[in-house]
Amino acid sequence: MKIGALARGLATYVPGMARLHGHVTHTGGSDSARYCYSVWLRHLVMSNQNGLCARVPDRVAELGPGDSIGIGLAALLCGADRYYGLDALPLANLRRNLVVFDELVDLFRARAAIPGETEFPGIKPKLQSYDYPEALLKNPDRKRIERIRSSIEDSTNPESMVRYVAPWWNPAVIEAGGVNMIFSQAVLEHVDDLKTAYSSMRAWLAPGGWLSHQIDFRSHGTAHEWNGHWTYGDRLWRLLRGRRAFLINREPHSTHVRLLREAGFTLVCDETVRDYAVARHKLARRFASLSDCDLSISGAFIQARLDATSRHESSGAVPRLDSR
Ligand SMILES: C[S@@+](CC[C@H](N)C(=O)[O-])C[C@H]1O[C@@H](n2cnc3c(N)ncnc32)[C@H](O)[C@@H]1O
Repeated sequence: MKIGALARGLATYVPGMARLHGHVTHTGGSDSARYCYSVWLRHLVMSNQNGLCARVPDRVAELGPGDSIGIGLAALLCGADRYYGLDALPLANLRRNLVVFDELVDLFRARAAIPGETEFPGIKPKLQSYDYPEALLKNPDRKRIERIRSSIEDSTNPESMVRYVAPWWNPAVIEAGGVNMIFSQAVLEHVDDLKTAYSSMRAWLAPGGWLSHQIDFRSHGTAHEWNGHWTYGDRLWRLLRGRRAFLINREPHSTHVRLLREAGFTLVCDETVRDYAVARHKLARRFASLSDCDLSISGAFIQARLDATSRHESSGAVPRLDSR
């Protein structure tokens, strides 16, 4: 087991140390405009390739934007009208959003190719072509750029194209049927209450809407091996997590497929990354019945659309997500 990871979890119980170890200040790559540009265009290109859209959707929502809302700003720059960024913690800030935004504007103006595997070997999904997807999007004109900039600067204005909510535990932050696409990058493995998250996403989507999620099933530094988190019993895991707002939920690929089907979605893309499996005798009891397939999937890119027969409940009630 990884002693450092356990020490970090335990430190969150110690007054004074808790601030240092329980405090998330930097989460991923979204403080880089090139990362945001690459991630957004991958979700968009894959949505088009899988027959989910012929152009940029009007209203998009993102779970867990992280250090900036840049992935959503890329969506606005290429044609979306409204972006909702819902995070567990308020990690993005105005200064960083504006820096990323200016760099994104330059990338779109230059019709830059999508940064690919040489620059970002870790970003999934991979694409067949990293050419600028000209046919799919509108290049931003000056008026749109100014409108987005003022939306970032004053996101409380009802006219703002940006809505950032962190923490977002009340699912009514997005009205029922209010968005066309919901996406996330390296987030769903952190969400504690996945069942409610999937049913909320289902409620937020308008008819014809879809999900696009990249999920990372690896141990996130909690173990030496990519899959070592499945060998820890629940008591040890509670100590490892400590009082952190989130860590990883340890749910395998099949949980996501089951939950999205139960919520009324049809899977249209399931691109998995495979790795070596942990020896069965090492698995914690709770994971002993994981399938061979689950044990080998270290990442997945899933896209799913609302079943044609799926309808919104007339009450518009959106289930409440548990914050822990
Ligand atoms: C690894 S970071 C990824 C950030 C960003 N998507 C990127 O690609 O750089 C995980 C993000 O998920 C967020 N997160 C954790 N639990 C969440 C939840 N229940 N709902 C929404 N976001 C959550 C974290 O606050 C963090 O921003």
